[in-house]
Parts: sequence; structure tokens; C-alpha cells
Amino acid sequence: MGLLDGKKALITGARKGIGRGIALTLANEGADVGINDIVDDEVSQRGAELVSNRGVKGTFHAGDVSSVAGVNSVIDSFITEHGRIDILVNNAIFPDQSRSLFETDEVFWDRMMNLSLKGYFFGSQRAAKEMVAQGTGGSIVCLASVHAYVAIENWTAYGTAKAGLRRMMKGFAIDLKGHNINANCIAPGAISNRLPEGDHDDVVDGAPHDPTRFLDRLPAAKGGLPSDIANAVLYLTSELGQYVNGETILVDGGMIASKIMQD
Ligand SMILES: NC(=O)c1ccc[n+]([C@@H]2O[C@H](COP(=O)([O-])OP(=O)(O)OC[C@H]3O[C@@H](n4cnc5c(N)ncnc54)[C@H](O)[C@@H]3O)[C@@H](O)[C@H]2O)c1
Repeated sequence: MGLLDGKKALITGARKGIGRGIALTLANEGADVGINDIVDDEVSQRGAELVSNRGVKGTFHAGDVSSVAGVNSVIDSFITEHGRIDILVNNAIFPDQSRSLFETDEVFWDRMMNLSLKGYFFGSQRAAKEMVAQGTGGSIVCLASVHAYVAIENWTAYGTAKAGLRRMMKGFAIDLKGHNINANCIAPGAISNRLPEGDHDDVVDGAPHDPTRFLDRLPAAKGGLPSDIANAVLYLTSELGQYVNGETILVDGGMIASKIMQD
């Protein structure tokens, strides 16, 4: 018996990193899992295969979730394969999210907001619409960040988007009153996102990040792993966390509590 037996979960940007960890963790608990990513290659396909190897249904849905059309196409494909949707995890992000204030141009701003706000909003709206029609409730989770709490040099556009997600999920929680749908964010700290690597593709976690100037100063004294985030997703999407709604859970090894990012 798993915590998510029979549930149908779609994870965006799950080819690698935290998304891959979430996909495998939810599959370990009995969920059928759809992996989305903008990159369609053997690594993406392998993720779906690893889900299926766990005795549940694993599918891959290629697509860019930074436009309404892209989001709808991915969710259409997921529902065609799985019949319904119970869990949506908005996780996708593009690389190199840091940009100095004066180098932040309209192209970068639009790219950030289109993926991290517009894509997450309309993906959540569409999933909620399906969940309401299904009448069986559900869970929506967005990946925010510690950057939603504190201002770090050269991270203003990313932090603005991630702060917006905290308010966005509060709005979904309120607007979906009575439908048994909880909508929340998880705000990771510094999480290793290296996996999958070569032969080590069937595990949730890889080697932690190399120590940086601040990881050893965290209360946790180390960086986080995809499983740290995936377990929080499992909590919010299973019966364990159903009464948590409109909340953002920091999973940061005490980073924000320690305020080391502001030193
Ligand atoms: N890793 C960290 O330390 C950390 C810290 C705080 C927050 N987060 C958040 O956690 C989430 C996952 O981060 P990660 O480090 O695992 O990322 P990652 O870079 O390892 O993986 C992101 C995935 O999203 C995919 N992607 C990019 N653009 C896409 C698009 N338009 N449509 C579909 N897929 C797309 C990429 O191809 C990639 O596979 C992100 O929302 C990120 O902001 C991560």
C-alpha cells in the first residue's frame, strides 16, 4: 500500500533534478506519473521507463509549459494517457536564472515570467478545472524558492516570480473553496540537481553539491537533495497534508532562519 495508490500525477520539467526526484518518489508511493519536459531525449524517456519499472504507469509528455497553448497541449496529452489528473507539480525552470539588474532586459523578463508565473498559473487553472469536473479533489504544488523571501544580488526577476507563486497558491486555495483541492508552494534552499548521471539514473538523489561559500554555514551544515523536496511534495499531495492549503513550506536546511543569505 502506497500513500498515492491510484493517483495520477503530472510533474513539469521532470527530465532531471528535483522534478525527476519528485517523479520517482511519487511513483514509489503508487502514483501513475507523467513526466513533462521541453527536452525530449533518451534521458526524458528513461524517466518514464523508471516510473513504469515501479509497477505504475509512466509516460513522457514533451512540451514547453511557458505558454497557455503549451500547457494545454501537455495536460491534454497527460489526460489522454491517464484519463484524469489528481496531482499537478509545477516545477519547470530554465538554466541560468541569475541576471544583474541592468542586464535584465525585456527578453529575459518575459522568459522568466512566461514560464514561472504564466505557465504555472494556467497549468494550475487547467488542472483545477479538470479536478473540479472530476469531483474527486486533488493537489497543486508549485516550486518557489528561498528567493521568494529574501533579496539576493542579481536574482530580482527570479525572486519576483517565485514570490508571486506564494500569493498565487493562496489565491487558488481560496478560489477553489469546497472542491477538496489543496494548492501550495514548496520553497527549496540549495538543492543538488545533478542527477541523472550515466549509470546512476534509478535513484532519487545523487552526490550533493560541492561546498560553496555558505553551505557549511547553514544550520543543516550541508546542501539539500531532491528527496528532501520530493518528500515535502509527497506530504502535500497525500492524505498526510490535505489540511495544508494556501501555504508555502520552506525546505531549506534552515537557510532563511539563519539569514546567512543576507550576510
Ligand atoms: N536546485 C535548487 O537549488 C533550487 C532552489 C530553489 C528552487 N528551485 C526550484 O525547483 C524547481 C526545479 O529546479 P531544479 O534545480 O531541479 O531544475 P533543473 O534545471 O535541474 O531542471 C529543470 C527542468 O525543467 C526543464 N524545462 C526548462 N524550461 C522548460 C519549459 N519551458 N517547459 C518544460 N520544461 C522546461 C529543463 O529542461 C529541466 O529538465 C525549479 O522551479 C526551481 O526554480 C531549485
